[in-house]
Amino acid sequence: MRLFPQQDPYSHIARTYDSVVGPFLRPIRREICKVVLSQGYGSFLDICCGTGEQCEMLARLGLSATGIDLSPAMLATARAKSSGLVCYYEEDASRLHFSEESFDAILISLALHEKAPDVRDAIVREALRVLQKGGMLMIVDYTAPASTCGKLSLAFLSIAEWFAGSEHYAHFRSFMKSGALDALLRKHNLSPMRRSAFHWGATALVLAGKQP
Ligand SMILES: C[S@@+](CC[C@H](N)C(=O)[O-])C[C@H]1O[C@@H](n2cnc3c(N)ncnc32)[C@H](O)[C@@H]1O
Repeated sequence: MRLFPQQDPYSHIARTYDSVVGPFLRPIRREICKVVLSQGYGSFLDICCGTGEQCEMLARLGLSATGIDLSPAMLATARAKSSGLVCYYEEDASRLHFSEESFDAILISLALHEKAPDVRDAIVREALRVLQKGGMLMIVDYTAPASTCGKLSLAFLSIAEWFAGSEHYAHFRSFMKSGALDALLRKHNLSPMRRSAFHWGATALVLAGKQP
């Protein structure tokens, strides 16, 4: 059974994603490794893991890493290069099969902006459900940059979002219009404990804890 409603929207990019998009994300991935290791977390879930780059990096550093994604093509790329240390599941992030409080650290990277608002909210709620009390939710997504460089960077990244298709782009536009990552955090009562800006402020990694 295939869970995407239509054809897998990532089938065209899955094989080239790591070489085309990967270099732009490398500094974020390194920062995530640093954070997760410094906190001494043992288990890590990447929701919408794509080609599994972040899972593989953390698994090589000794973490128990799990990735879920809805795209068979992205998961095929992840599995093809896998060290064998990561568990991958093809499933919908808004309906995870894991039980409550299963993971110490959870990441949602560059996936929420492309979803309709109700799906976006359901994914965040699921992440919080399966996160341990005292654990860390990490979200990487677009923000509203203040500087000219940030605005130019966002304009450049918007072109990539446009190429991803009309539905994807419409959701991206509504995400930005609604206040982007910061509005989403407020909506879910998540107060960032730490925030790192990337791409001149067009994207950010935020860390939010779940109260023990
Ligand atoms: C832009 S990619 C980001 C991949 C990865 N997180 C990264 O940072 O490179 C977005 C990913 O979200 C996945 N995705 C979209 N909707 C999903 C859903 N409802 N459940 C699980 N994965 C989903 C897509 O298949 C795609 O792999």
